[in-house]
Amino acid sequence: YSLKPYNTFGIKAKADYFFEFDTIDEIKSFLDDNPLDNVKYLILGGGSNLLFTDDYDGLVLHPNIKGIEIVSDNKDSVLVKAGANEDWDELVAWAVTNGYGGIENLSNIPGVVGAVPVQNIGAYGVEASQVVEKLDAISIESKRQVEFQNFHCEFDYRDSVFKKEYKNLFIITYVYFRLSKKPEFNLEYGAISKELESYDDINLKNIREVIIKIRESKLPDPKVIGNAGSFFKNPIVDTRFAEQLLSKHPDCPNYEVDNTNTKLAAGWLIEQCGWKGKQVGQAGVHKDQALVLVNLGDAKGYEVLQLANDIKKSVLLKYGVKLEMEVNAI
Ligand code: EPU
Repeated sequence: YSLKPYNTFGIKAKADYFFEFDTIDEIKSFLDDNPLDNVKYLILGGGSNLLFTDDYDGLVLHPNIKGIEIVSDNKDSVLVKAGANEDWDELVAWAVTNGYGGIENLSNIPGVVGAVPVQNIGAYGVEASQVVEKLDAISIESKRQVEFQNFHCEFDYRDSVFKKEYKNLFIITYVYFRLSKKPEFNLEYGAISKELESYDDINLKNIREVIIKIRESKLPDPKVIGNAGSFFKNPIVDTRFAEQLLSKHPDCPNYEVDNTNTKLAAGWLIEQCGWKGKQVGQAGVHKDQALVLVNLGDAKGYEVLQLANDIKKSVLLKYGVKLEMEVNAI
């Protein structure tokens, strides 16, 4: 079964088995008939944050659950329930069109709704954790439906309980977003306010437009060049270490996380090591954003992984900083 249409890197991997389901009843009865106790399996959403390093010798489960509906409504906000396989950016577009605020800064991010809490997607000063109120999931083990409230998800920077203790144990079916009817705009990050100066009004639609413009200017469209967004996380280091590094490299972009931790820009570190725009076989480092690795044609997953490891090594040697992958290598 070809997985090429199911990964934005466009890697030609195959799976031994593939099961797609549209409803909760369908997956429940599948699990009743096929207990997965001794089966290797993978829950695959939009495939926008993974890299197949080889063919997958197991079962791929693909939720195809759709639907966007307002489940409750008050004078300040709405609670929106969205199916796991709804396209994320279509949900953002829908929210902006209807005047619901909270996710406009997360415009133009590839992927589907079910993956949003797993990865705690974030961009331009907003994280999914700020708007995900709760979610529904099926436990693979008990086959029961479980509800996770926001605080059960243990959200952190590009992280959640679904990447740690509960990795691969739950299939997320629906996510509930709390969106505001009286949005407060988040315009702190980077060039957003500056870009908005050329508009006569600051509103959800214009913010979305500006963010799409900024992203399109540096991030490759996965439909054109295979990629999975930022390949590494921005490293969080001890602030004392960051100060030493900054005394030698004052240009290194850095952001305070808390009293003792500082976040560095992985893209900057990688660029300074000379990787930006480099090509190794069919794998490459994007020419406009060094944090994004790309498939320049017919790259094999292991070629991309090899490139990633070489980048990690050179950043460690030059700056003493250990990069961690954001993308999930399978
Ligand atoms: N930079 C360089 N060279 C590069 C890339 C970046 O010097 O090749 C510098 C920039 O000039 C800037 C700083 O690094 O000073 C940060 O760059 P940018 O604003 O482009 O964001 P990022 O840190 O590279 C993060 C997220 C993105 C998110 C943007 C905007 C991570 C791992 N990545 O990227 O998320 O869109 O901020 O909020 O946190 C993703 O997770 O897939 C993703 C694209």
